[in-house]
Amino acid sequence: QTGLIAFDPGLGNTGSCESAITFIDGEKGILRYRGISLDALQNHPNFVEVALLLMFGKLPGKAQYQRFSTSLTNNANLDEDMKHHFAGFPRSAPPMAVLSAMISTLSCFHPEFLELEDATQVERAAARLISKVRTLAAYAYRRSLGLPYNYPDPTLPYVSNFLHMMFSEPYRQYSIDEDVVAALNMVLILHADHEQNCSTSTVRMVGSSGANLFASCAAGVSALWGPLHGGANMAVIEMLEAIHKGNMTAQEYVALAKDRDSPVRLMGFGHRVYRNFDPRATILREVSEKLLQRMGRKDPLLSIARKLEEIALQDSYFIDRKLYPNVDFYSGIILRAIGIPTNMFTVIFAIGRLPGWIAHWYEQKRQSDGKIWRPRQVYAGNRQSAYTARTERG
Ligand code: SDX
Repeated sequence: QTGLIAFDPGLGNTGSCESAITFIDGEKGILRYRGISLDALQNHPNFVEVALLLMFGKLPGKAQYQRFSTSLTNNANLDEDMKHHFAGFPRSAPPMAVLSAMISTLSCFHPEFLELEDATQVERAAARLISKVRTLAAYAYRRSLGLPYNYPDPTLPYVSNFLHMMFSEPYRQYSIDEDVVAALNMVLILHADHEQNCSTSTVRMVGSSGANLFASCAAGVSALWGPLHGGANMAVIEMLEAIHKGNMTAQEYVALAKDRDSPVRLMGFGHRVYRNFDPRATILREVSEKLLQRMGRKDPLLSIARKLEEIALQDSYFIDRKLYPNVDFYSGIILRAIGIPTNMFTVIFAIGRLPGWIAHWYEQKRQSDGKIWRPRQVYAGNRQSAYTARTERG
């Protein structure tokens, strides 16, 4: 069972925690947000609704949903002075570096949200952060290409507004495709929370010091950046492209990933908790196939991904280690079809995961009565060593 891990009274907080936000059963491949299954959420893909469910514990009523949606619309703009910060980055700056820095910078423009005492204040701060993260991401993308920024369009709902800010041009408004919007809503929903993963634990750790919500989420972006975590969705596409270019066959890549002397891993495969399939990967594979079909397109990388999955799932190396496709294995296929560049994939993961980070930051704040996280260590060094003068050292 995840979420309920006993504290060791002798050691105090051993870096494990109790949470009521997301339930995972790794053996059965079950993932539920506040007890609600992905299947139920998949029938009505609405990322804003899932964000409120995760942060406040239940599906929003009409009033809360309308209030929050209005706040998302009204707070999508950035303070004009934030553009100076974008101008300070080289165009080649990794978008995750820009995102982490700019989320932290947001706190300088919204000091009213540095102290959050109740659900109303958390909801107001969450609306600003969840709304503006789209604008920050779109501006980072436009800046990297030297393109003009697109102001948010208040007539557009959450995901459509993000796509508009990413892809509209002064001479042509981005044409909203409802299949694309539904697919991206589902991608964001499936990334919205995943209990005590590396980046969420980072947000809880930083928040436990009393650090504000913006600083804690900026730390979460940095943790998510790693290739073993959120950065894997970019690495999967790079792996599929290498095979597509003919650098090696799928069979050769799998053989390399099995070789213990090789640093290569089958990216998008394996998971610390899922010892069976990752339910998100199953849904994302279906979403990728359906979106490409609706667009009347084929992506050779999807065929390669299916081939890799087929080979690996018949190979005792992967079977014995219970390695299956995870959330990152198919998500990039969908983002490619939408036209989102590979270097923005982990940024999309961050946009999706933001409500989960906020939910955990807020849960911990209510739980912790001010206790800072202090995981314990087993000391493995010399208990005592003598000091030698530099003149006597080698
Ligand atoms: C995410 O925690 C979360 O919930 C994360 C996440 C979320 O929503 O927040 O689900 C998102 O981060 C998904 C994971 C994305 N990362 C990747 O796809 C990178 C590739 N996967 C691996 O690096 C690995 O599977 C991890 C990091 C995901 C999990 O690593 P573990 O649990 O620490 O497993 P391990 O490294 O101890 O591996 C156990 C064995 C080893 O072999 P042996 O020592 O037994 O011989 O399995 C092997 C590993 O070499 N192995 C792999 C492999 N993953 C594990 N071999 C080849 N390819 C792989 N992908």
